[in-house]
Amino acid sequence: MKQKKIKQENWTTQLGVIMAVAGSAIGLGNFLRFPGQAALYGSAFMIPYFIAFILLGLPIVWAEWTLGRYAGIRGYHSASGIFRCVTGKRNMAYAGSFCVTLTTIITSFYVFIEGWCLAYALRYLFGWMGHGANVNFGKLFIETVGLEGNGALFQHGLMNFNLLCMVFCLLLNYFLIYRGIVKGIEWFCSLALPALLVCSLIIMVRVLTLGNPTGIEGQSVIEGLGFVWNPSQPNKTLWESLSNPETWLAGAGQVFFSLSLGFGVICTYASYTRQNDDIVLSGLTAAAGNGFCEAVIAAMMIVPAAYIFLGPAFLTPENLNSSFTIGFQALPEVFHQMPMGRVFGFLFFFLLFLAAVTSSISTLQPAITLLEEGLQIGRKSSLTIAGMITTFGAFFTAYFTESLTALDTMDFWVCNVLIFIIAEIQIIIFGWVLGMDTSMAALQCGSQVRVPYFFRFVIKYVSPFYLLVVFVAWVYLKSSEQLVKILQNPVAQLSLGFIIFVAIFNLVITAQALARWEKQERLNKNNTSDWEI
Ligand code: ALA
Repeated sequence: MKQKKIKQENWTTQLGVIMAVAGSAIGLGNFLRFPGQAALYGSAFMIPYFIAFILLGLPIVWAEWTLGRYAGIRGYHSASGIFRCVTGKRNMAYAGSFCVTLTTIITSFYVFIEGWCLAYALRYLFGWMGHGANVNFGKLFIETVGLEGNGALFQHGLMNFNLLCMVFCLLLNYFLIYRGIVKGIEWFCSLALPALLVCSLIIMVRVLTLGNPTGIEGQSVIEGLGFVWNPSQPNKTLWESLSNPETWLAGAGQVFFSLSLGFGVICTYASYTRQNDDIVLSGLTAAAGNGFCEAVIAAMMIVPAAYIFLGPAFLTPENLNSSFTIGFQALPEVFHQMPMGRVFGFLFFFLLFLAAVTSSISTLQPAITLLEEGLQIGRKSSLTIAGMITTFGAFFTAYFTESLTALDTMDFWVCNVLIFIIAEIQIIIFGWVLGMDTSMAALQCGSQVRVPYFFRFVIKYVSPFYLLVVFVAWVYLKSSEQLVKILQNPVAQLSLGFIIFVAIFNLVITAQALARWEKQERLNKNNTSDWEI
């Protein structure tokens, strides 16, 4: 009996996989979330951010790369297959399926935000942002998101500019995924990343050469940079900022979301690398590239620009109560006041759009891989199924826009709860189940770079403990508010229902995959030559 042959794809070059992983990491988290957090917590935020980068970011990045390649060369690419393959335990496949749930939910709401970025880029391009003193960017944001109430975007059916932008983003994502790992993801990331880097460097140079355009004392570019980088602020000492546990949670949360850690994306991508690729260097390069984009470029371009034009009085927790305020309300105001603001506005939202697409294709791919492996179907069929679920999720998020309840609920349960659980499982598999000797040998196979010995201790003891503390603190601080929402708000209940539906669906597909793998392994034992993997 012959099993249907699944085409094995590999990245064409090492640079290609680095671009794809960096593309997954560099996204809205870098250019919207990071500046929002840096402005909210002040410059002290950089300290927990860098500590979390070293103690959590790099170890989990390396763990994901190792687990992915280890399983990939044995023929498993889905998170379910990877978790089962590296642990040798069948039930771990079910744990792996939660990565796919997480990424499917993220894609559902991420594409909605991607649509806003495209809508703003097009408005700048065609001069539709408005002129003169009466422009109201707060109102524009409310209309773009549909914050007036549930269904606000659907008053004329699909004939709404913002909805059409979201539909375009969905189709673009499906098209790129349909083209596959090499012709779709690698190709697009290799073009989009340099393009977005150029756009961001142009804006950064413009901001850094602004001097003091408003003439208001204390609002020059130097003072704007000081707001981001000087750890002691006039109104708050460094110690006051660092003794607030929320600053530490925010630092760790940012590293997680931004590096796409615990998503299962890096391990899925890494499963398409070759045995002798240098994954230590690839992981380090992609993570450093991501850090550079947010801690250097985004930090030097967005917060100082808001500081220069809107003043420190704007950058307060009351004004920055959402990650979207700085990008969609403060920056349009800045571009409005800046010479040639229309050009810079277009460049900024276009770079956000590119960054968002390179991330959303990465969060769509794990579902495709699981469906291919679980149901033994081709890319077209798996894309049809994953596309139906994510399209439903995107429209669901775009319909229930009042107070952004649907988006917030999905974001909390997936990005603040599930991510940490999955990352904990990954780091424990790496440090304890495979064991440090096996894991480090697998990580360093083909590598020119040696991981410093200090990381053995960090990966085995510090990272799992640090993760646990962050997770417990998050749940302690935030879950009661979310639980009340779930009990009282029907939209929050529906959103949780959608997450549960996706989780059950992925568990069922994983059960199918398990049955197939086990049958295949039994037959392999009896007659190896009958099987092609
Ligand atoms: N890592 C992606 C981002 O930063 C999801 O947006």
